[in-house]
Amino acid sequence: MMENKNILNGEYDLSAILVIFGGTGDLTHRKLMPAIYNMLLDGLLPEHFRVVSIGRRDKSEDEYRNEVRASIDKFSRNKVDEDKWAKLRELILYYKFDFRDHDGYPALKEYLDKLDDRAGTGGNLVYYLAVAPEYFETIVQGLQKGNMAKAKGLYSRLVIEKPFGKDLITARQLNKKLLEAFEEKDIYRIDHYLGKEMIQNIMVLRFSNPIFEAIWNNKLIDNIQISLNEKLGVGTRGDYYEQAGAIRDMVQNHIMQILSLVAMEPPVNLKTDSIRTEKLKVVEAIEEITPEFLRDNIVFGQYGRGIIDGIEVPGYVEEGRVPKDSRTETFVAMKLHINNFRWAGTPFYIRTGKRLGNYGAEIVIQFKDLPNILYFKDSNIQEPNLLVIRIQPNVGVFFQFNTKDFSTHHDIVPTKMDTSYANPSQGNTPEAYERLIYDILRGDSTLFSRWDEVEATWTFADKIIRYREQSNVKFPNYEAGSMGPMEAIKLLENDNRKWWNI
Ligand SMILES: NC(=O)c1ccc[n+]([C@@H]2O[C@H](COP(=O)([O-])OP(=O)(O)OC[C@H]3O[C@@H](n4cnc5c(N)ncnc54)[C@H](OP(=O)(O)O)[C@@H]3O)[C@@H](O)[C@H]2O)c1
Repeated sequence: MMENKNILNGEYDLSAILVIFGGTGDLTHRKLMPAIYNMLLDGLLPEHFRVVSIGRRDKSEDEYRNEVRASIDKFSRNKVDEDKWAKLRELILYYKFDFRDHDGYPALKEYLDKLDDRAGTGGNLVYYLAVAPEYFETIVQGLQKGNMAKAKGLYSRLVIEKPFGKDLITARQLNKKLLEAFEEKDIYRIDHYLGKEMIQNIMVLRFSNPIFEAIWNNKLIDNIQISLNEKLGVGTRGDYYEQAGAIRDMVQNHIMQILSLVAMEPPVNLKTDSIRTEKLKVVEAIEEITPEFLRDNIVFGQYGRGIIDGIEVPGYVEEGRVPKDSRTETFVAMKLHINNFRWAGTPFYIRTGKRLGNYGAEIVIQFKDLPNILYFKDSNIQEPNLLVIRIQPNVGVFFQFNTKDFSTHHDIVPTKMDTSYANPSQGNTPEAYERLIYDILRGDSTLFSRWDEVEATWTFADKIIRYREQSNVKFPNYEAGSMGPMEAIKLLENDNRKWWNI
């Protein structure tokens, strides 16, 4: 649902100044600036638009613009067109400012007001907090005290990067502070997974294809697996990861969002709140997570040394900025149930980890087998029907079904259809941040997390975190390059199932 009220010539007015706190940081260079460049190429930037990047370091506008150009060269999905870059270059400004200095906000306001007058951006402002989470409150307080949070034009929006708190209590505290300055409708909590093409495609697949929606339930689906697997370790972000771990980094946000979209009921319409309300109901229907339940249904892991793609890599505790005795989990696998009419009895298995043997994010829907009476009777080759929604690195849908093997008289073989190979734009699909920034300008918050969703997912994650803190599982318990601890494999074997690595 779009919020921008003034519709000019039948189109939404996207004019705005995008103020990036953390304009010299990694996220801005690797994701935000390339996304803005690609939006320009796709004609998605408004006519009246500026980016003001804030950093502490002393640098001229030219120096900053050259750095942005280098980042776009390196990270953009499209090659740089000199004419387009020349246009974008003029729209990017650098403002040196230490955002802890609350006395400095009036000067920033004055700078933005003057820029707004020159650029005709209608007083519309988006504040993007691409900074470490401990600064979120500081900046929001500065904006509030500097009288910058209230809309001067149509709106004043706040974009918050993850992590949103580190547990339920801190998330509530943070949210309270944000709401003192901004209204809920103007707060955009980023979960960049929601900007990915295939995540948005989940609802399209489910609710525009009768053949899928008709069978999307516990009567025909045996189990659903959500895997977000990484080959990468923590790299230079050891200090961040040490505070987070796999539950906070991946489960509380990305996995819960994916789970909600896969399991939700059809919303009454496509309005933002209708969709978010159905997603929330899924989280609320998750079976009670007690320590007794977790004892049998969750596996934590931390990687030790190993070999990935032929290269020896260090264990987690040997990474930079990680204490030698760290108890942080880099892997988690879990079985859970959604206790509603559609899903009761169908397990959902979730798994995420670093330094695993394969990289990929996908959802596997395994359908129930037919009675073992006819074709499968004397054969070992029965394969279930599988529908795989590939999120990354391949983008598309894979479907497996059984057909007769034409080369023999009797065998049945699984046939695999994979649209990710047939997709002509594969490899150059829009980056999540392109879609997300565009939606922020349009005032469409469907792909961002509403507060009650965040609250519900923290309530869920908190129970797991508390249990993990008390568990005495011995780390490291999986080798880099493997698919996680043996217990994660046993979790499914105990149910006569297996993880699908399609
Ligand atoms: N990097 C990613 O891929 C990624 C992915 C998902 C989410 N995130 C989230 O995005 C946020 C930013 O991450 P990042 O990796 O981009 O961090 P980063 O590379 O460490 O950048 C931090 C930025 O904050 C600025 N900064 C720090 N203290 C400042 C101060 N007192 N006044 C003014 N500017 C200050 C730095 O500016 P100067 O250095 O110029 O002082 C720098 O631009 C975090 O919340 C992170 O969790 C990042």
